Amino acid sequence: MKILVFGAHGRVGEMLCRAARAAGHELITPTHAECDLEYPAAVGELVLRSEAELVVNCAAVSRVEECEDDALRAHLVNAMSPATMALACRHTGARFIHLSTDYVLDGRRPGLKSADARCKPVNTYGFSKMEAELQVREGNAEALILRVSWVCGNPRKPSFVENAVAQAVRGEKLVAAVDQDSMPTHAGDIARAILSPQLEGVSGVLQVTSSGEPMSRYSGTMVALEHARSVGALSQMPVVEPQKICDMGRFRAPRPAHTAMDNCDLLALGIPMPSARESICRAVDDYLSYTAGQTH
Ligand SMILES: NC(=O)c1ccc[n+]([C@@H]2O[C@H](COP(=O)([O-])OP(=O)(O)OC[C@H]3O[C@@H](n4cnc5c(N)ncnc54)[C@H](OP(=O)(O)O)[C@@H]3O)[C@@H](O)[C@H]2O)c1
Repeated sequence: MKILVFGAHGRVGEMLCRAARAAGHELITPTHAECDLEYPAAVGELVLRSEAELVVNCAAVSRVEECEDDALRAHLVNAMSPATMALACRHTGARFIHLSTDYVLDGRRPGLKSADARCKPVNTYGFSKMEAELQVREGNAEALILRVSWVCGNPRKPSFVENAVAQAVRGEKLVAAVDQDSMPTHAGDIARAILSPQLEGVSGVLQVTSSGEPMSRYSGTMVALEHARSVGALSQMPVVEPQKICDMGRFRAPRPAHTAMDNCDLLALGIPMPSARESICRAVDDYLSYTAGQTH
């Protein structure tokens, strides 16, 4: 199949392209410089002339603070370009899969959220992603929106999981938030889900997350470090200082507190997902193999 991937060089996009190539698909992977999502019309033109059968949008301004600092860019890249992709795909007949986020939720109540939970973002990033969901659904009823959360598992694009291990190996001071929880999910599992034949014909919003119970940043960090220690990458367990998000100076924009999503609909489609703990441990293994390869 011919697949056009936006954001092919990001954390999820890179893993998707690797899995798609291994499965024998033909890929079109425009870089940021080749196709800037700040210009939705150019994005639409690319989709129209691509002859792709599947278009997957993994591109986004995904850093929360960057969205706060430039809301117009967040609106163009995160909402207007996906809306244009959805319309162009409706025109060409290509299937459209768009990645969204748990940050569209308000996150006020603890516990796992279903796909019809109330959306009420607390920051500009979340608003731009919610706007995308609404526009994509309005423009293309057959489009599929995959909400993912706390993506780890791409060693070249470290997440809080890999960063915790790297910091511990360097002997640096570690802090982690205790008052925010979600569902750490491996990028490789998201890629596998995107390419699953079971998703054919599925539209609307589907939550693609690990299985299990919500996990705080602090708990996820501890799982990563304990695993790194168990495989000999750390000689002892480092101290991790628990902190509240409001005390973490580098987070200027508010974060939703409890955004873990259930994956019932995904499992019902016959797409299994590992637990969040297993996902973190696998991400740590992948990261350690990658860094070992870098140093040899
Ligand atoms: N990472 C997470 O924990 C997480 C959680 C929930 C949802 N998501 C969602 O999952 C999707 C993938 O996230 P990710 O972590 O893979 O993101 P990422 O690593 O930040 O990658 C985003 C990609 O988008 C590209 N991009 C950014 N601005 C662009 C522009 N103006 N024009 C063209 N390309 C542009 C980036 O290219 P450059 O690097 O060259 O700018 C990069 O390749 C996003 O929709 C994100 O909102 C991610």
